[in-house]
Amino acid sequence: MVTRKTVWIGTNWKMNKGPAEALAAAEALKAYRAPEGVKPFIITPFTSLQAVASVLKDADVLVGAQNMHWEESGSWTGEISPGMVKECGADIVLIGHSERRQHFAETDWTVSRKMSAALRHGLRPLLCIGESLEEYDFGVTAETLSRQLKIALHDVVHADLPNILIAYEPVWAIGAGGRAADTDCVAKVHAGLRAVLCEIAGKDIGDRVPLLYGGSVTQDNARSYVSQPNVDGVFVGRAGWSVPDFEKLIDRVIEERAPA
Ligand code: PGA
Repeated sequence: MVTRKTVWIGTNWKMNKGPAEALAAAEALKAYRAPEGVKPFIITPFTSLQAVASVLKDADVLVGAQNMHWEESGSWTGEISPGMVKECGADIVLIGHSERRQHFAETDWTVSRKMSAALRHGLRPLLCIGESLEEYDFGVTAETLSRQLKIALHDVVHADLPNILIAYEPVWAIGAGGRAADTDCVAKVHAGLRAVLCEIAGKDIGDRVPLLYGGSVTQDNARSYVSQPNVDGVFVGRAGWSVPDFEKLIDRVIEERAPA
């Protein structure tokens, strides 16, 4: 295999897998050897974050949390601080997933606070952005994404940008009722995102920010996204919940990586 770029392939377990099931999945992933140039990661529920991160401490698979608060500590009942996430052994933290924006009042403002807090604590934020079906139908996808991106990254030091991950996840593409975005559409959107990143931080930095696609990614369509020039990986939900499926999905992406 000839490596053209680092490819990030992650799965968000969402509200699935209690501690016992999560631990069993981590044990199964422990011996997994990622193909050259591939960075696999799993995003676990809080209840198993520490145990999973400990099992996968020296493994090829990185571990992340699904959310966090932006403050270090305090009277925030039910919340988890960046320091707590870090202390559990997480490498990555998901920020602004559309399910949190939709159902838990996450806003561009809270996302922005969380981005800089994550970086301050040595976590790699995985920022999720995406337009709703309504915004897509009105033809304001580019405007929506540009707004989300600029607010989320407003307080991030430019030199830190290559240490974050960004996932473009159209809201209409996510979950059982979703429809995977066309490859051409993703290619166009990602080129636009790259341009916004270059506008924000200059070409040298903007070109180095990994851009992932997510939303109804499957073993059958993952490779078509990753073969696009501005797509540096995929972020999957359902297609990665079973460990063998997740490993198979990675294999299928790699099959496509012919010499440049
Ligand atoms: P899905 O979820 O792959 O099940 O559509 C994607 C996501 O929410 O990141």
